Amino acid sequence: MIPVVEITRAADAVPLAAALMDAGLPCAEITFRTAAAGEAIAAIAAAIPEMYVGAGTLLNVAQAQTALAAGAKFLVAPGFDREVVSFALSRQVPMLPGVSTPTEIGAALSVGLSVVKLFPAEALGGPAYLKAVSAPFRNVRFVPTGGIAANNLAAWLAVAQVVACGGSWIVKRELIDAGQFDTIRGLAAEALAIAAEACPAAAPASRREP
Ligand code: 3PG
Repeated sequence: MIPVVEITRAADAVPLAAALMDAGLPCAEITFRTAAAGEAIAAIAAAIPEMYVGAGTLLNVAQAQTALAAGAKFLVAPGFDREVVSFALSRQVPMLPGVSTPTEIGAALSVGLSVVKLFPAEALGGPAYLKAVSAPFRNVRFVPTGGIAANNLAAWLAVAQVVACGGSWIVKRELIDAGQFDTIRGLAAEALAIAAEACPAAAPASRREP
């Protein structure tokens, strides 16, 4: 699960990350949709180094550079931008470029990437679209993002080529702005419970049924 975060105040970053960690979800994608993104990544990387904090909505190389300098451990983009992807490859940092067509999946494969973000996943046609579009690409794995929430998470995770799902529903901007970190912890725990049921083999041992 990759919570997709839009953060207004960098001061909220560490309490937010702590809430996700408490729920057992040690990952967050901080999007460069706000000016606070770089500072938020730096704050999380310093305070909670065990968290897998990354940067999202990267539209150009300058943003990707800022993200890495701040301590981002992975990079995400909504589309497949060759310059941003080349930058990530040259710095040997994991990158999920967004794809939505066979041509874009092919472009990712041609530069050596075999894990991509399917975006905007639900609007493209949901799990049925992913099953159809991925059929010729047996070795590619997908992180569907866009329109995913507790109600459809299990259906996405049931697709064999899905390795994770991204989404903002766990970390809605209004919840962060209002400091509702307990609610965020609860939503993260709920998402993990759904994931554990959908794919028990992937769940942490502590969450598996005896
Ligand atoms: C993204 O940036 O990855 C998406 O906008 C997240 O989509 P969602 O808000 O529908 O979860």
